[in-house]
Amino acid sequence: MSSTSSFNTKEHQNMLRSYFNGNGFNRWASIYGKDKLSTVRSTVRQGHAVMMDQAFSWLEQLNLPKGATVLDAGCGTGLFSTRLAEKGYRVKAVDIASQMVDKAREEATAKGVEKQIEFEVNTIEEVSGTYDAVVCFDVLIHYPAEGFVQAFENLTGLTKNPIIFTYAPYNRILALQHWIGGFFPKKERRTTIQMITNEQMDKAMARSGMEVKNRQKISFGFYHTMLMHAERR
Ligand SMILES: C[S@@+](CC[C@H](N)C(=O)[O-])C[C@H]1O[C@@H](n2cnc3c(N)ncnc32)[C@H](O)[C@@H]1O
Repeated sequence: MSSTSSFNTKEHQNMLRSYFNGNGFNRWASIYGKDKLSTVRSTVRQGHAVMMDQAFSWLEQLNLPKGATVLDAGCGTGLFSTRLAEKGYRVKAVDIASQMVDKAREEATAKGVEKQIEFEVNTIEEVSGTYDAVVCFDVLIHYPAEGFVQAFENLTGLTKNPIIFTYAPYNRILALQHWIGGFFPKKERRTTIQMITNEQMDKAMARSGMEVKNRQKISFGFYHTMLMHAERR
């Protein structure tokens, strides 16, 4: 990170950890769960499901070997990790918030796939290992460009080849403002969605030696994200 930067990784992580262990846990666990939701939030649930289906289909098209390892970075309540384990992948599910990891373990246990998943409370910047693929959904959207590049570099260094992830492209200002307003209590507005410009994304890709293979905008009600599949050049 440059010395002129105002971005402080530890501070940012502390803020995210505190949010996703507290109000954030309740909010997102209900969106990712089965609770009855307001119309706005139910569009987020549906958009997120559309994104996950698309990501899962891209991953399956890679024809990774049986028992391939996948890192689910920022696994949340474990929706994708559990789905991967049910399909026979070996999964490492990592999240900064211990409450999220506990919930992910509980969900995997309920589905009988907990033995295929290694759970870890850790950050996307610090997690280590080598995996056949890395996925990271709706996590990097909480990072401004400098933090994004740093985390992206770590994650791409852990994959033997593909990474499938989401980020918030720059031009979705209005929709994102709605989303931000609806999901983050005022005192936690610093957890807002952070937008990345095309130039910033190109730089992050170049720095990590990756290139884009597939991209798809997912816009569904109040859920807006860019799903990307990148591989080593
Ligand atoms: C919006 S949720 C998405 C969860 C999951 N990926 C999904 O799509 O269902 C964001 C998750 O990222 C986690 N997170 C945020 N910053 C993180 C970091 N630096 N390292 C690891 N996890 C992080 C949060 O705790 C939260 O569980």
